[in-house]
Amino acid sequence: GSDGCVSGDTCSLYTRVGDTVSLSCTNVVNQDCSSTTWNYHRTGLRSAIEEVGHGKIKTNSRRADRLKVASDCSLHISAVRAEDAGKYICQQFLSNGSQHGVDAPVHLSVLTSDSSMYPDRPVTLRCFLYTYDGPGICSDGVTEQVSLLWLNETSNKLENYSRHQVTQTSDCDITLTVTLQKEDNNRKWTCQLNINEKEISIDFTFMVPGPAWSPTSPHSESNVFNVIYILSCTLFEWFIIN
Ligand SMILES: *[C@@H]1O[C@H](CO)[C@@H](O)[C@H](O)[C@H]1NC(C)=O
Ligand SMILES: *[C@@H]1O[C@H](CO)[C@@H](O)[C@H](O)[C@H]1NC(C)=O
Ligand SMILES: *[C@@H]1O[C@H](CO)[C@@H](O)[C@H](O)[C@H]1NC(C)=O
Repeated sequence: GSDGCVSGDTCSLYTRVGDTVSLSCTNVVNQDCSSTTWNYHRTGLRSAIEEVGHGKIKTNSRRADRLKVASDCSLHISAVRAEDAGKYICQQFLSNGSQHGVDAPVHLSVLTSDSSMYPDRPVTLRCFLYTYDGPGICSDGVTEQVSLLWLNETSNKLENYSRHQVTQTSDCDITLTVTLQKEDNNRKWTCQLNINEKEISIDFTFMVPGPAWSPTSPHSESNVFNVIYILSCTLFEWFIIN
């Protein structure tokens, strides 16, 4: 994930589960970050959580091992999880305890996916933005024009036709339902998030296990499946240079 933040207003940042993201602090006073505090909040939390105080990661933070304060006082989050979505507020406190300048909030939204497979039923692939307000809810933090879509292997938008159904409950939540057939082996479907000049996507590929597939694998218990499909999900992210 790259940093699309500009100094001043609330900034909105988008990333994807598993990625590393950098949240910039736009109001730094002390270059050694000793004045920098990072607080985190999202809907459902009773109060904000202080993740960084005096430029140091709080040791009692549940995600201390995934957080880092960079030399410019920006906050780096690695191996991003859906639940990392929310509002991160950078604040500057002077040595006499008074706050300097205004809060510099960064809204982080995380592209997330979910799939379900049951015998004799279509496969469901859900792709959604986890935001400040929760899964699939386009909230305050989603200030830019966002769109989610499903693409086939030739990058054509998938609509409702034959075996595919696309249902969209909001701009931040889209589900593809596919009735799988043998020819879908190794077929790829892509969920793509478009935000201004940036695209983030998640790929899904179905594979029918070959003869090398071990009957001792835990899946062998589920004999209700005629064919067991393995769902793999790979992640791609790229930027369109203006
Ligand atoms: C703290 O220090 C700053 C700058 O040195 C000053 O402007 C501010 O009034 C001080 N605040 C208090 C509460 O003393
Ligand atoms: C993707 O969708 C387009 C438009 O519906 C279709 O013409 C094309 O054959 C599809 N590509 C694949 C690989 O299914
Ligand atoms: C596709 O079909 C589903 C179920 O019939 C419907 O809810 C959905 O709105 C349709 N999607 C589009 C893009 O027309």
